[in-house]
Amino acid sequence: MIIAIDGPAGAGKSTVSRMLADRLGCVRLDTGALYRVVGLAATRAGVGPDDPDLGRFVAGLAIDVEPDHIRLDGQDVDRAIRTPEASAAASRYAAVPAVRDALLDLQRRLGRARDTVIDGRDIGTVVFPDADVKIFLTAAPEQRARRRLAELVERGIDADFAAVLADIEQRDKQDSERAVAPLRRADDAVEVDTSRLDLPGSVDRCEAVVRAALGGGSS
Ligand code: DC
Repeated sequence: MIIAIDGPAGAGKSTVSRMLADRLGCVRLDTGALYRVVGLAATRAGVGPDDPDLGRFVAGLAIDVEPDHIRLDGQDVDRAIRTPEASAAASRYAAVPAVRDALLDLQRRLGRARDTVIDGRDIGTVVFPDADVKIFLTAAPEQRARRRLAELVERGIDADFAAVLADIEQRDKQDSERAVAPLRRADDAVEVDTSRLDLPGSVDRCEAVVRAALGGGSS
């Protein structure tokens, strides 16, 4: 079973996906983390977004995905991929077709291995167009910036509201205007707007969507 959750940065995808997966007894696959690892690795290696060898470079990366942990060459990079610089790099590299191609097989392999809640930008449109359930999770930009700031503060990363909001708006633009696999709601996805929902409320809403789609009834 594949449950695809797409939406813009800061809509609550990460936490909602993790909690939803727990409730449904699925694993969760965070595809944004894969793009972040690519951005980090390529930046460190000095391989730019225009480099003709970028696709080969990405295909050769040793990325190891475990629930709640991601490793690059055996090294834990959970923290390194969450900085604002890593976000910006991820967004730039995610616009490169060779990067998306290189990550497509990996995402499909990981998603098919188990019942999975998989979150990203193009899961319902490109990676798993025939997912069992598709949700498009969204919220107003200011609300998303507030949440992202709280997350960063909790991780001990220094940031201010204006910078986080600017980063979110910039990424929305970059992610939805790019030529390849832009962020958009799949025609058959159910939209869940979390602007006025707290976390448990958002998870409840998504769980109801899943149960309704799978024919198990909903609240
Ligand atoms: O969800 P996130 O903020 O961790 O994603 C990091 C970047 O990767 C973001 O700019 C969008 C991009 N991304 C993507 O293009 N496709 C995905 N399936 C997931 C993330």
